[in-house]
Amino acid sequence: MNASPVPVSAIPNDVYRKLVDLIYVHSRIRLGPDKHTLLDNRLRKRLQLLGLSSYTDYCQRLRTPGDAAEIEELVDLVSTNHTAFFREPSHFSFVKDHILPSLIPSALAAREPLRIWSAAAASGEEAYTLAMVMAEATREFADLRWELIASDISRRILMAAARGIYKTEVCAPIPAQLLRRYFQEGFGVRQGTCRVKNELRNRVRFERINLFQAKYPLTKPQHLIFCRNVMIYFDEPSREELIEKLTQSLVPGGYLVMGHSESLLRVPQGLQTVHQGVYCRL
Ligand SMILES: C[S@@+](CC[C@H](N)C(=O)[O-])C[C@H]1O[C@@H](n2cnc3c(N)ncnc32)[C@H](O)[C@@H]1O
Repeated sequence: MNASPVPVSAIPNDVYRKLVDLIYVHSRIRLGPDKHTLLDNRLRKRLQLLGLSSYTDYCQRLRTPGDAAEIEELVDLVSTNHTAFFREPSHFSFVKDHILPSLIPSALAAREPLRIWSAAAASGEEAYTLAMVMAEATREFADLRWELIASDISRRILMAAARGIYKTEVCAPIPAQLLRRYFQEGFGVRQGTCRVKNELRNRVRFERINLFQAKYPLTKPQHLIFCRNVMIYFDEPSREELIEKLTQSLVPGGYLVMGHSESLLRVPQGLQTVHQGVYCRL
């Protein structure tokens, strides 16, 4: 018989502020003053698992020097991972119709792969959408080579991304021809799911990257970075810092794509707007 879970008391205000600060320091995710319930909903089970009955004890535990794994867990639990295949579809048409035609000739001439990074990839739909766009491009340009990294701060969500198994309804935005080409329908216990075929899945490298870590584990600058629908969780100074870091991670002539609602009001020097939420490094 399962023991009943330890009852957990509500989050006192001072502890709430400490937790919010810890989350900010380690991810730059800024929770507003009115997110007590959200935080409680996300963390309650974790406390029960740890056998803790109060957020004060949990906070103490997080502050134990060397408990980096528990802080990682905390950030993981508060991250919001909503995403979709072909989300904001005009970005993918823009990649196909404008970005790739501008990048492919020089990549082919230099015999260099195009390096692409889905930088807040969540459960992988964005990265696999990009992988499909690239795989389709190689049908036209047989010599085209490409590399794709999918990263996120949350290890839990990255593991789901690497599995590449999605409910059939999640795959609804994928055009039928691409679905047939790049996915396998599940049967038996996997009925109702679709799995990314290994040929495509193996093209994506999954890696935990905090967008604010000192140095990104990239061997070379990227040609295309998708960093969409994550800036909204950061404050203005963090956004500016991140845009600078991402710009520095692009080749000149490379592209940075942000969510439609994240379009920059003030485009920094060194970037030029080329489409809604799409910037080219000068
Ligand atoms: C809403 S999802 C966006 C997914 C996808 N880019 C899209 O537009 O559909 C935001 C993702 O950003 C990740 N994230 C939040 N803070 C981060 C950070 N500091 N570094 C890396 N990823 C972070 C979250 O874990 C989450 O999976």
